[in-house]
Amino acid sequence: MDKNVLDKMLRPKTVAVVGASATPGKIGYTVINNLIKGGYTGKIYPINPTCTEILGLKCYPSISEVPGEVDSAIITIPAKAMAEVTEACGKKGVKGLIVITSGFSESGRKDLEDEMLEIAAKYKMRILGPNIVGSLSNSDKFNGSFAPGLPLPGKASLVTQSGALLIAIDMATYTRKIGFDKLISIGNMADVDFADLIEWFDEDDNTTCVSLYIEGMKNGRKFIDAARKSSKPIVALKSGVSAHGSAAAASHTGSLAGAAKIYNSAFKQAGVIQAQDLNDLFNRTLTLSQQPPMKGENLLILTNGGGVGVLATDAAEKYGIPLHFAPADVQTELKKHMPEFGSAKNPVDMTGMAGNDWYYQTTKFSYAHDWTDGLVVLYCETAMTNPFEIAKSIKQAVDDSGVTGKPITVSFVGGEKSDQAMGWLVENGIPAFGGPDIAVNAMAALREYARLQENKSDGAYNCDESAKKTALAIFAQARAEKRDSLTEIEAKEVFKAYGMPVTKIALAKSEDEAVALGNKIGFPLVLKIVSPDILHKSDAGGVKVNIKDDAGIREAYQTILKNAKAYKADANIHGIAIQEMAPWGTEVILGSVNDAAFGPTVMFGLGGIFVEVLKDVTFRVTPFTKSEAAEMIGEIKGAAILAGARGEKPKDRAMLAETIYNYSCMIHDLDDEIKESDANPVLVYEDGQGLKVADARIILKAK
Ligand code: COA
Repeated sequence: MDKNVLDKMLRPKTVAVVGASATPGKIGYTVINNLIKGGYTGKIYPINPTCTEILGLKCYPSISEVPGEVDSAIITIPAKAMAEVTEACGKKGVKGLIVITSGFSESGRKDLEDEMLEIAAKYKMRILGPNIVGSLSNSDKFNGSFAPGLPLPGKASLVTQSGALLIAIDMATYTRKIGFDKLISIGNMADVDFADLIEWFDEDDNTTCVSLYIEGMKNGRKFIDAARKSSKPIVALKSGVSAHGSAAAASHTGSLAGAAKIYNSAFKQAGVIQAQDLNDLFNRTLTLSQQPPMKGENLLILTNGGGVGVLATDAAEKYGIPLHFAPADVQTELKKHMPEFGSAKNPVDMTGMAGNDWYYQTTKFSYAHDWTDGLVVLYCETAMTNPFEIAKSIKQAVDDSGVTGKPITVSFVGGEKSDQAMGWLVENGIPAFGGPDIAVNAMAALREYARLQENKSDGAYNCDESAKKTALAIFAQARAEKRDSLTEIEAKEVFKAYGMPVTKIALAKSEDEAVALGNKIGFPLVLKIVSPDILHKSDAGGVKVNIKDDAGIREAYQTILKNAKAYKADANIHGIAIQEMAPWGTEVILGSVNDAAFGPTVMFGLGGIFVEVLKDVTFRVTPFTKSEAAEMIGEIKGAAILAGARGEKPKDRAMLAETIYNYSCMIHDLDDEIKESDANPVLVYEDGQGLKVADARIILKAK
């Protein structure tokens, strides 16, 4: 990201509008009108060969004829003319193009997009879009878009992949009292992407929180890197999480909307806070733009209504910040500001008798007390109180407390006066919401941000170099034999090289060899067909288990060969694998997928029915650390089974975390080679007893 270039493009001193029009109602007219109406103080150059003047501004037939420099050009001409205009802008020395025009990759004309990019690259010119509404910046009074107007000023900035959403949000910022400094439509992300803008916002003094609406992304790793480095909170709403929604998003922006679980994991790894829906994005963005993170677990709730207090308590548990009773000294002090029948526990219920002074006293004391890590103040409108006065008392109490760096959120439940009072609080830096659960959810976002910051991984990992050599030699052998799937024996050798405990296994090419190997490995045994042409071994009758003696080996050997030939007469049979039959344990599965956006990604879950029916799995983008591997074990719904449910002893989660980590090393190291792989089942034993990879599969990328 070149800050200066993006500055010139998005906060230009001089801007051209190529395709400016004198016809009201056309986009090229609206953009000029918006720039003027927004109060932009830089130079505006309308470009149109058929006009001499637009809205009182001199119009130029081409960008080359503009006197002086042009920082940024907003493009509103049809896509087919884009190559010529890009070339002209490049020659003029324009730093960036804000390409509003549609009709590129999103509608099957990737060729036009590529052509534009190629020309822009020649001149080191950046492209925002194409297929966008434009870019708006309050601090620059720059409305380079066809959105209705600059949004309500605020400290957050939004990047959205949907232009329509920008338009919808734009005016809603006034009714919802949620201010933004910049709204940027990013469209097809042909060049400038989320990561570029996250980096750019990190250095923008007018932005305290970055809000993202994401449909899909192409370079997820760049996104994770940029978000990890960001010193500002990032909130993201990812759409297209349902199977149907995913298809809609893909056709909308021409990019891939990846699996929701992979995005969830990537956001967590990157320290990005998620929003569940548009309202949540608004609320969390506002809160994170105005309030500091909640650095500890102690949330205190003040209220004048029992009902909203209970709703807030439920929400606190739901959103991961369950309430604890306030310590005795806090309760004693708070008791002074409520009637006898009030409650100073948590939530602190001052009852419907609470007026301005009690709100002032309890807020000031609670906010300043060391025990409190975050404060939520609730108010139900009563006939004896004036919402605006209550709002002023809360704000005054915060100011008088002398404390900074601690978060507060507020909820007023009432009518118009309450709404106005909340609007005033928001204008004065205190996020306020109509529902107690929303105020708690907003506080939970501040807690989540603090936790993500504490646990943010640098993604550093340290894997064994020699394992890679072993793996590459095995892959080379398979490739020499024109195979892209490894045999189980080969796959297990690779797993073993990366430090994962695998069941003992050896290849027998004759019945006698099978008997000799079986005795060396030790009974009981499993015999399996080894053939690159038979991947589903059980379906082919190619697996015999629990073989206890020499006679059993001989019988199984013959039966498997017979079944395999019946299944596929011309199958290339390498022999029969003689394998240790591991004692049964808790079945888990490890798998890897190469995600279109994030690249190599590890999946972990309970095996058997849990993975097939309940899809109880979690993901991490590689590389990740051992502690992140341990986190994955705690994340699945079946975590209790591994922790030792229903009187069973806990399973060896330390060894499991080690194995997930080693597996991630294998996947990350061999990213260029492995298309997909899994270990299924991995049998996990009781604490201290370790685990065994009972079956392993590796499919190579075609080369
Ligand atoms: N240089 C300068 N001006 C040029 C030009 C060039 N090379 N080529 C054409 N023009 C002028 C035209 O003469 C016209 O001016 P006029 O109104 O005086 O006749 C103006 O540029 C616009 O061109 P026109 O052909 O009339 O296109 P249009 O206004 O109907 O549509 C777009 C242009 C960009 C708005 C349209 O192609 C488009 O992409 N619309 C979708 C935008 C959108 O929705 N974006 C995504 C939001 S999520």
